[in-house]
Amino acid sequence: MFTAAASSLEPGFRLLGNSPQMGEVRRQILRIANSDAAVAIVGESGSGKELAARDLHAHSPRRAEPFIAVNCGAIPETLMESEFFGHRRGAFTGAHEERSGFFQAAHRGILFLDEVAELSPTMQVKLLRALQERSVRRLGGQREEPVDVRIVSATNCDLAGAVRRGVFRQDLYFRLQVIALRLPPLRERRDDLPLLCDALLARLGRSPHGCGIRLSQAAIERLRMHDFPGNVRELENVIERALALVSGTLIEADDLQFEPGLCSVDIGSEGLPVAAGPSLPLSLNEHLAAVERELVGRALRQARYCRRRAAALLGISLRQLRYRIQRLAIDDLD
Ligand SMILES: Nc1ncnc2c1ncn2[C@@H]1O[C@H](COP(=O)(O)OP(=O)(O)OP(=O)(O)O)[C@@H](O)[C@H]1O
Ligand SMILES: [Mg+2]
Repeated sequence: MFTAAASSLEPGFRLLGNSPQMGEVRRQILRIANSDAAVAIVGESGSGKELAARDLHAHSPRRAEPFIAVNCGAIPETLMESEFFGHRRGAFTGAHEERSGFFQAAHRGILFLDEVAELSPTMQVKLLRALQERSVRRLGGQREEPVDVRIVSATNCDLAGAVRRGVFRQDLYFRLQVIALRLPPLRERRDDLPLLCDALLARLGRSPHGCGIRLSQAAIERLRMHDFPGNVRELENVIERALALVSGTLIEADDLQFEPGLCSVDIGSEGLPVAAGPSLPLSLNEHLAAVERELVGRALRQARYCRRRAAALLGISLRQLRYRIQRLAIDDLD
């Protein structure tokens, strides 16, 4: 995460970028910061949705209160209710202590529901009820506890499409979507690249690796040509890798290595590292991992980073896809 000041016009923002699009995003955040209305942030993977939510919190009257970020896709279904609403002692086997949930923890602050499209139908109903009643009941409890939270949600899926397909409740969709905030992909605001690179080099420059290292003009041009399907997170990885590879103090275009699975240029038939000739791969496992990484990357790109759609394209479950992404260390897509 970058820490440098964003712009003299909108101070205190961690969302950097001097393009008109990013200026508009920051102004929109300022405009909506004072209300308590629910905000739904949409944007591709790595485009800064969480950072936008944190900037919104920092500029809202709730700034001194908690910001609780919840990844809705990462909580096992069986634990969902107690994680969100808390539980009483003895509510289930292993519930030795009374515990608060995310709602109680976020009281007076902001509850950030990341990957909100991943909520199960049961949990969608429970969440809707909590938002309507502005109160929650702990698992195993009788009493309603009033909670004052502002909901900010994020997704890189087409939530309206999920509503049309009947997998996301329309009533919850409208509750979450009072204000929509769109984070434009990096390829739509390439003018942000120099500033983002400077901020990244300055941050990494605190490590011995980054000291005084700059990008050559050709390297910047090379970055401008890339489509960055993984957006700012992908840029971070490219710069970090370049810093590890560079020998002098100038990063050249050749020092920039893009994730093969994320490459913006179509790879074509020779892209797949299938053992075509008589020679055998040095390690079957490594070879298969490379093939898998390539296909997972391609499916993610085709699905515009909606994991659910990518999983469908590959004919595997969402859980299997998540597992593969983790195992193959495709961590810049996470
Ligand atoms: N405009 C920006 N200025 C500075 N840093 C940024 C910007 N946008 C994103 N980043 C950085 O890029 C990384 C990814 O951002 P973030 O986690 O907010 O993206 P996201 O949209 O939530 O991604 P995902 O969909 O994968 O959850 C973070 O390290 C964040 O600090
Ligand atoms: Mg995120």
